[in-house]
Amino acid sequence: MDSILGKDLTNNTIARQYKLIKKIGSGAFGEIYLVQSQSKSEYAMKLERSDNKHPQIFFEAKLYNYLQGQDQYDKGIPKIHDQGVDGDYNYIVMDLLGPSLEELFNKNHRKLSLKSVLMLADQLIQRIEYIHSKQFLHRDIKPDNFLVGVGSKSSRVYIVDFGLAKRYITKEGHIPYKEGKSLTGTARYASINTHVGLEQSRRDDLESLGYVLMYLLRGQLPWQNMKASNQKEKYQKIMEKKQETTPEQLCKGFPNEMTQYLQYCRNLKFEDKPDYNYIRNLFREAFRKQGFEWDYKFEWIKDEIIKEEKFIGVAIPQKTTDIPTTTKQSNFQTMRAPQLMQYQSRQSQQASQEKKRNSSYTKNNNLNKQMTGLLAPKININKERTRKY
Ligand SMILES: Nc1ncnc2c1ncn2[C@@H]1O[C@H](COP(=O)(O)OP(=O)(O)O)[C@@H](O)[C@H]1O
Ligand SMILES: [Mg+2]
Repeated sequence: MDSILGKDLTNNTIARQYKLIKKIGSGAFGEIYLVQSQSKSEYAMKLERSDNKHPQIFFEAKLYNYLQGQDQYDKGIPKIHDQGVDGDYNYIVMDLLGPSLEELFNKNHRKLSLKSVLMLADQLIQRIEYIHSKQFLHRDIKPDNFLVGVGSKSSRVYIVDFGLAKRYITKEGHIPYKEGKSLTGTARYASINTHVGLEQSRRDDLESLGYVLMYLLRGQLPWQNMKASNQKEKYQKIMEKKQETTPEQLCKGFPNEMTQYLQYCRNLKFEDKPDYNYIRNLFREAFRKQGFEWDYKFEWIKDEIIKEEKFIGVAIPQKTTDIPTTTKQSNFQTMRAPQLMQYQSRQSQQASQEKKRNSSYTKNNNLNKQMTGLLAPKININKERTRKY
């Protein structure tokens, strides 16, 4: 396949300081390279052609920065380190992450265990809730856009790709309900209302997440490989199949909570604020009923990583609420005493930081509506691009 950038840039140097080591990803408009800086640090670099009619990566970088905020707390979103233009290319330099859930799913013979999917669900909901708390919708929730961290962070999931993100709270309040929109996102995971042409809102990111989880569990979705003579017909068939597949049918053979989750998402109204705690608890309850241990041992976690002092799943909880209370005890049992004390003191530190952060979210949300322009950059990344299917 032809390179989106026009040529393979491996071994080239960008901005006289980043050596492009190898291509690690490509999307609709840009490509991602593993790069090495002069100080030998490794990063991921996203590039697009600078003559692109609809340049987007600087808008994306702005959004990454906005979502990062001022504090140093790891939000499960990669940080931007640099950006610029070098000749034919615009580039952004960001934290290097590991493989995507799609790659991990492929490596694992295209299925993930129920235990892994339920542990993942908890983090994925947190990522989406966080983005929503910052007044944005992601609008392209899919396994390719969730990446795990590297090394000791390989049980932590990051969310990437804000190319289709949209602010849903503006100075006028919630964006208005609209019909007749073209499909934005990825047809396989799009919500039914997105297929129908409705403006997307928080509920649609969550419905897509439901399809992602069922895809990882089942290995495929009933609306994959629909035969059609053109794209329009294909989307139509995907939509019809989705509409005729009830949540019970889709989730048959899996915990009832999966069905409840999808029903909950499909019943949300356009402007509804989802009850993120309720849905996280659904999956935690399913996990508890199975008698699983919340040990962050995903299929891709190697024993060597778990032995590392810093393994994030055991010694450094992502934040207090990351570990479901029902399984906290079993986590403690896997730790040695000194680790446990460090863990507990970190937990209480994180709990107070978390409290502060949460109160600032609410403060932000309660701010005078006229202030909202200051809270989020004005982003007009795309003309409602339809892409990726
Ligand atoms: N920070 C990163 N570290 C490692 N790989 C990344 C990073 N960001 C993106 N990728 C890889 O590149 C792919 C495409 O990047 P993404 O930002 O999703 O672009 P697109 O909008 O083109 O889909 C991702 O699915 C992932 O495999
Ligand atoms: Mg992507």
